[in-house]
Amino acid sequence: MAVYIPDKNRYDGTMKFRRCGNSGIVLPEISLGLWHNFGDNSSFTNCREMVHYAFDNGITHFDLANNYGPAPGASEEMFGRILKDSVLIPREELIVTTKAGHEMWDGPYGNGSSRKMLITSLNQSLTRMNLDYVDIFYSHRYDGVTPIEETMQALIDIVKSGKALYVGISKYPLDKAQMAYDYLKENNVRCLVYQGRYSMFNRDPENGIIEQAYNNGAGFVAFSPLAQGLLTDRYVHGIPSDSRISKPEGHLQREQLNEQVLDKIRSLTAVAQKRGQTLAEMALAWVLRDSKVSSVIIGASSVSQLKSNLKGVANLSFGKEEEMIIDDILNR
Ligand SMILES: NC(=O)c1ccc[n+]([C@@H]2O[C@H](COP(=O)([O-])OP(=O)(O)OC[C@H]3O[C@@H](n4cnc5c(N)ncnc54)[C@H](OP(=O)(O)O)[C@@H]3O)[C@@H](O)[C@H]2O)c1
Repeated sequence: MAVYIPDKNRYDGTMKFRRCGNSGIVLPEISLGLWHNFGDNSSFTNCREMVHYAFDNGITHFDLANNYGPAPGASEEMFGRILKDSVLIPREELIVTTKAGHEMWDGPYGNGSSRKMLITSLNQSLTRMNLDYVDIFYSHRYDGVTPIEETMQALIDIVKSGKALYVGISKYPLDKAQMAYDYLKENNVRCLVYQGRYSMFNRDPENGIIEQAYNNGAGFVAFSPLAQGLLTDRYVHGIPSDSRISKPEGHLQREQLNEQVLDKIRSLTAVAQKRGQTLAEMALAWVLRDSKVSSVIIGASSVSQLKSNLKGVANLSFGKEEEMIIDDILNR
């Protein structure tokens, strides 16, 4: 296999970068997440092709977590293998993130947001990816028990140890997010970014989370912007056998694809066609229409999906009437 040589034109301006909150870091409008399709049941060649294609097209930001797989940890191992195999990808051009907070190993310390969990887990993640540091380390969730101060102090100490350059929080409720922003700020390690689920089918972050991140100088990155594939043409003619719904480890459940959802998908597709876009492209553009959104983290199972999704950034503006039509469809 020939050595992969990154495309010289990867920063030709096609991929736009947005400042992440009030920080020195910019993120590509589209980032790649490795939650699904990078586990130990995935083809190394296909995964490597996707990472190469992403990097060649200006995607510098790769989002991982300790538990992504299957099995938990396998996606980080896959990513580590790809980097090892792709010696010409300069580490300094990458934003690599990982997280801890969900169940990872047996016993009382393998889950949640304790200092023990976060620090031990990050050490394991670095070993799996064969990296000295990650760019962003996230508290993956508020676990309902660990004091915010303990979790945030662990993040601060991680930054001080040099094992992460920045820290972020994910899925924190509004009140706990504010406590996290405040604690970090008081201790001179600012929260770089909040990561939340945001798509046409899940607008929860519009209820204060995006605004709060902005007011605290943090960026907001949206995960599952395609609602795990629902906001594409993937399920329009049934459930393909290689799709996320069909896979036992997939987090998208059959019940989520009901007649009401299919009706919305068809109506949104018609709106997208009028805009000269696919539904997937429009769904990404719709999330990115808000300039407070720093990046959308997409998933993909093939280079062709990545290729078509990258076109989503071509037209990010929505007219008032278009917005109203879309709102009507989503509120049905
Ligand atoms: N912080 C958190 O708690 C959290 C939680 C979830 C996710 N995330 C992050 O967000 C990332 C993205 O999440 P996600 O994978 O749910 O994102 P998504 O972009 O909403 O869904 C990705 C899936 O949509 C389908 N798809 C993508 N492009 C398509 C296209 N052009 N045509 C048809 N189908 C297409 C593929 O499904 P098939 O696989 O069926 O082909 C793909 O796996 C994750 O990898 C992870 O990094 C974070």
